[in-house]
Amino acid sequence: MGSPGILLGVTGSIAAYKAVEVLRRLTSAGCTVQVVLTEGAARFVPPLTFEALSGRPVVTDWDGSASGISHVETGYDVNAVVVAPATAHTMARIAVGFADCPLTATLLSVRAPLLLAPAMESRMWSHPATRANVKTLLARGAHLVGPEAGPLASGREGVGRMAEPEQVANAALALTRPPSARGRWLITAGPTWEAVDPVRILTNRSTGTLGVELADLVAASGYAVDLVLGPTSVRPWHPGVEVVSVESARDMEAAVRSRLAGLDVFVAAAAVSDYRPASAPESKLKRGTPGADRLQLEENPDILAGVAQGPQRPRWVIGFAAETEDVEARADAKRVRKGADAIVANQVGRDRGFGGGQTELLWIDERGCQRSGPCSKATAARFVLDRILERSREGMR
Ligand code: C5P
Repeated sequence: MGSPGILLGVTGSIAAYKAVEVLRRLTSAGCTVQVVLTEGAARFVPPLTFEALSGRPVVTDWDGSASGISHVETGYDVNAVVVAPATAHTMARIAVGFADCPLTATLLSVRAPLLLAPAMESRMWSHPATRANVKTLLARGAHLVGPEAGPLASGREGVGRMAEPEQVANAALALTRPPSARGRWLITAGPTWEAVDPVRILTNRSTGTLGVELADLVAASGYAVDLVLGPTSVRPWHPGVEVVSVESARDMEAAVRSRLAGLDVFVAAAAVSDYRPASAPESKLKRGTPGADRLQLEENPDILAGVAQGPQRPRWVIGFAAETEDVEARADAKRVRKGADAIVANQVGRDRGFGGGQTELLWIDERGCQRSGPCSKATAARFVLDRILERSREGMR
């Protein structure tokens, strides 16, 4: 096999200087990189810099007269396309399908996976127009790396910084391989339903939002992901997420067990009922029936512990812990007891954690504890994914 071919599109953001380092890392990894600059990008970094590092002419204008390369041919045989930095403007143009510059025109003829590394002011990133464009692009199968929270060019703080070049280059390299070769994930999410009788159930307040958000992000990052989902109305939007709907803990366990072969990461985000009614009659329990005022319970299988301590243990096993007090110590004890590599913990109570939009997470592994700070569930999912990727990079294929 020849070296992977990558098309690197650079757009007009102050973060364009970071694209130089992305290019350097890609060429060091043995990739052949064709750089295409927008007019705006060429104002931030001269084409000559990219030309010298890629060892190829850079496309900056329409007819390719400077480079001798036509935009129609540019993207035909590449294995992945990276747009870094990707401005709000260029993402909007790609989402709509404009062909108003060599980069957007090229992107219309490319069929290779597309990775976007957004960079912009946080208010632009959170604007409904940008949100809608990003959603369109992701639904079409594009991948996203970043943006990250931190200091922005404006001097303000917020989400909008382009991901670090190493992260962008690694994500791009991963995309040159097929999804199943990049890593397979299995995530459980949502509550479980344990039948008391045909109409009544034992369940909990989980909505599955965080696990579903995580599955979307994992798919958007280019991994193959199965989501074993308990009863909830929350659904992933990414077409790459394979949803397996289950009701009870035992159904969930069976669905998980049958999918362990060749798995790289298992994330148990589901709120599994610890107990189930020992027997569920075929017909509805009636008031006044002897024994109808007592529930005899028996223990459900511990799916997380079973996977973590079982013969088909994936390299990375991550559990969740919802605790009402003494969160860090209890979660760490749970990590050791169950045999997980890390536990994501949050404090729950009547008004916190379950069902609400906001949360605060702790990531606990054998190295210690990291906190997300109070954040939305979407940001929390990003926090969890970043921690898992940080730890698992060496172990992922
Ligand atoms: O023991 P506890 O229920 O607090 O543990 C929570 C973690 O274990 C979560 O990751 C949850 O998905 C998982 N779990 C499980 N099977 C159970 C109970 C919990 O996988 N029966």
